[in-house]
Amino acid sequence: MPTSMSHEPTVLIIFGGGGDLAWRKLIPALFNLHLDNPLPGHFAIVGVARKPLDDEGFRNHLRKGVDLFSRRKPANEDSWNRFAEHVSYLSDDFSNPASGPALSHKLEELERAWGTRANRIFYLAIPPDMVEAAAAQLQRIGVCRDCVRDRLVVEKPFGRDLASARELDRFLTGMFAESQIYRIDHYLGKETVQNILAFRFANSLYEPIWDRRYIDHVQITVAETVGVEERGGYYDQAGALRDMVQNHLLQILCLIAMEPPISFDADEVRNRKVDVLRAIRPIRPDEIHHHAVRGQYGNGTIEEKAVPGYRDEAGVATDSPTETFAAFKLFIDNWRWQGVPFYLRTGKRLPSKVSEISILFRPAPHQLFPSAAVENWQPNRLIIRIQPEEGIVTRIQAKQPGTRLLLGPVDMEFRYQDAFRAVPPEAYETLLLDVVRGDATLFMRADQVECAWKIVDPVLEAWESVPPGDFPDYAAGSWGPESADLLIARDGHHWLQPVIKTVKNI
Ligand code: BG6
Repeated sequence: MPTSMSHEPTVLIIFGGGGDLAWRKLIPALFNLHLDNPLPGHFAIVGVARKPLDDEGFRNHLRKGVDLFSRRKPANEDSWNRFAEHVSYLSDDFSNPASGPALSHKLEELERAWGTRANRIFYLAIPPDMVEAAAAQLQRIGVCRDCVRDRLVVEKPFGRDLASARELDRFLTGMFAESQIYRIDHYLGKETVQNILAFRFANSLYEPIWDRRYIDHVQITVAETVGVEERGGYYDQAGALRDMVQNHLLQILCLIAMEPPISFDADEVRNRKVDVLRAIRPIRPDEIHHHAVRGQYGNGTIEEKAVPGYRDEAGVATDSPTETFAAFKLFIDNWRWQGVPFYLRTGKRLPSKVSEISILFRPAPHQLFPSAAVENWQPNRLIIRIQPEEGIVTRIQAKQPGTRLLLGPVDMEFRYQDAFRAVPPEAYETLLLDVVRGDATLFMRADQVECAWKIVDPVLEAWESVPPGDFPDYAAGSWGPESADLLIARDGHHWLQPVIKTVKNI
């Protein structure tokens, strides 16, 4: 994949420039892009936030973030200085209707110096409830009116439910063209997530068996060891369902379940994904407990360190009903997937940080080996590891060496790092580059977002109307509440617990 920035003059304006996302993700990603290919002369990054700060203070703050979070930390002095020349800061409060002239002035100044109108990218790295106000201000001051050159990047969650997502869409599309709006889901920028498409559609090996005839069920796990960090205020209003399931997990499911697109055209790929979301069987209110469970962590131990429970985190209500764990069982009502359960789970403060997809195949139709030979027998499985140790493992049965006929599982592994001897770029590197180039393939269209809300809306409603009586119900450092085990055990299955560091032991 080419890594150089566009040669068209570009200004990237980050609203929430002083926030966590810019500090941990956006600026380290931009810095890495700069290391691969120095930013062109006509490229500027402007951080906008309320806090009074000068350019120098802002750059110093960002430098600390790069030293902590960049995949190529710490920053080399010269490279950083060359990068920092492109960065400036503007103190402004975009929730105040009087704000804006300073930004217009800044843009005019840059463009005058460059002698041309630049592409302008407005990245809204701000809490969801501030998006409308910021967008309205942009419209009012008239800085984002060129349908081709000006773009708006909106972070997830896009809305709080179906109704608010529709309202936000109506609001934004009333002011901007759909082609200007980039709804970002950073999971779609992850190298291994993109590799799902290559794996399925650039190889002829798996597609013929990729359906209900051969696949028994699918498990998608996105587990985190972190709690809510400094984001308690946001997270307590969101919860795992809005923060992870409605977007990241459903997007992964789409890539696993979609039909082959005709081409890699942005709309073609997105159409096939929407088809999957539309085919997901709606969860009926009286069946919610069979299809969705929630949990909240109490105190416990992670990596041998004692950690507090969710309700003791900063910014979280002491009696918070917010879920930090969610598990789902979904069915896709179409020809390919009829009857195949897709189990999804995600949670904070679980024992490892791991995102992976396990495809469990049906058993061989006839068992011809003597029962003593197949004591360790397991059905085939395919594991797509998104992070860490990005790769794909196929588990097959083989005869164990020796004079006795004894079968046992062995793994065929593809590991990114070994195969390509390269560290994949961070998701935000890929996605920022795509926005700069105007490629929307990896971004969510309004209809995708709405379909995803339609799936989770009944669960949100049910959970909000009946507060959980048993929270906290899992200890930090465990694999979530018992109800999640029951959800899958009812079908005679169990969650495959990922084992990190030794892919061989999966
Ligand atoms: C974000 C969520 O979208 O994804 C966070 O808001 C979560 O709560 C993060 O921690 C996980 O992303 P990653 O790339 O670390 O798996």
